[in-house]
Amino acid sequence: MTAQKNEKVVIFDTTLRDGEQSPGASLSINEKIEIAHQLSKMGVNVIEAGFPVSSPAQFEATKLCAEQVTGSVICGLARANPKDLEAAGNALAPAKKSRIHTFIATSPIHMQYKLKKKPDEVLKMAVEAVKLACTFTEDVEFSPEDACRSEIPFLIEILSAVIEAGATTLNIPDTVGYVLPYEYGRIIAQLKEKVIGIENAIISTHCHNDLGMAAANSLAGVRNGARQIECTVNGIGERAGNAALEEVVMAIHTRPDFFEQVTTDIKTTEIYRTSRMVSNMTGFNIQPNKAIVGKNAFAHESGIHVDGILKNPETYEIMTPETIGLSRSRMVLGRHSGRAGFVDRCKTLGYELSHDEIKVAFEKFMEVADKKKEVFDEDIAAIISDEVRDVEHVFQMEYLHVSCGTGTLPTASVKIRTKDGIKLAAACGDGPVDAAYEAIRLATELSPKVDSYSIRAVTEGKEALGEATVRVINNGRISIGRGASTDIIEASAKAYVNAINRMVASQNLSEEEKVEL
Ligand code: KIV
Ligand code: ZN
Repeated sequence: MTAQKNEKVVIFDTTLRDGEQSPGASLSINEKIEIAHQLSKMGVNVIEAGFPVSSPAQFEATKLCAEQVTGSVICGLARANPKDLEAAGNALAPAKKSRIHTFIATSPIHMQYKLKKKPDEVLKMAVEAVKLACTFTEDVEFSPEDACRSEIPFLIEILSAVIEAGATTLNIPDTVGYVLPYEYGRIIAQLKEKVIGIENAIISTHCHNDLGMAAANSLAGVRNGARQIECTVNGIGERAGNAALEEVVMAIHTRPDFFEQVTTDIKTTEIYRTSRMVSNMTGFNIQPNKAIVGKNAFAHESGIHVDGILKNPETYEIMTPETIGLSRSRMVLGRHSGRAGFVDRCKTLGYELSHDEIKVAFEKFMEVADKKKEVFDEDIAAIISDEVRDVEHVFQMEYLHVSCGTGTLPTASVKIRTKDGIKLAAACGDGPVDAAYEAIRLATELSPKVDSYSIRAVTEGKEALGEATVRVINNGRISIGRGASTDIIEASAKAYVNAINRMVASQNLSEEEKVEL
């Protein structure tokens, strides 16, 4: 290993860009800003806030992060062409510290079939892109997309050329998650040895998880001289996802013997909170056995293990739950927990609520606590995402009545508040949910097609909150809505209204088209 003492590994978080490319992830602009603030608080050095040219919403989100999040470098992605680079430069203009990340594919398969360009054309585009990016910021990152299936001599040539053009970080993406740790480490070592000017640049890892190697590959990169890791919270991202921030950070933290004096700036005690926040806002549940942040990551079931833990936690724990901001004894809340207890738990779960938001959430919490004796963290997350953290409620469901049963025709009536007043509608359907959805369509005069629908019990027990998720499509745009209630028909109707509100919010943004791209 080539590390000197106390060398820093830059943590570059791409939850808001590559992570948001996960199929089904949909974050509102406000949610993105909130996540960016939390990433900054956690000590993330660089936040990739979006791909500004790709849509007005992406432009706006990157710009707002640039304006509001000052503790980290704010980065925007751009392909190697002037339109993309100008959009990124403009979106990042308000940032205190900004970075443009430009990329072009370098593997034979991508150059031939996707770009339809010869290597010398690609090299020229890369150099021109980096030069143009340097006119917006002095912090420029270049990625040869699909680097791990590219020819090493070409990689060396293009990376040497972009360093000369002004690139300060060279990212080596394993775009399709193809290589194994030994190979990835060797690629990094070769580039570190052969690229001209590399001593003045930082080598970065960007590993996808198609073979489950993303974290291991990133760490192999660090062992061989990379000093930036690109990662996402909970490992979300394209296909099987990206390297998980919590895994790479905790590996470096837990194994100083292996990573010698390499450190990160991450405040590990913020990891759990950030993970919950991203899971709650994206709607992606974390698998129970997920390393570091899964529900079972610190759970001990077997008698032998529990006995060992009680005698000395190190018998079965290589890190303590407290290191990631999780307390060992998690108390379940109930109606006597009080407002202070509720607010404190919200903070642990990653929610910084305003005075008004606390009021709304606490009222709902008490309502749920009346119906269920025990209110779990998952219930609180569902309450907040349902009642507090949302787009503007253009449509508000004030009343729902459904009647169904064996031998009857399911019928529903709804009362929806809109800015033009109350709309009433009634309809029948194949089942109670179908009837409710038809009545909502009549009342809102909008009829987005339901692409998928699911319902899950948020916790265990027959009084558990049910959380419905519905994905709708309107004019090719996807919106995802969620709704929670102890009544699953009500949860389903709320989810549909929520999806309609989100659809309207995203349409408003694109109709405004204030952004010049
Ligand atoms: O996976 C990839 O190649 C990317 C690039 C844009 C860096 O996400
Ligand atoms: Zn990627």
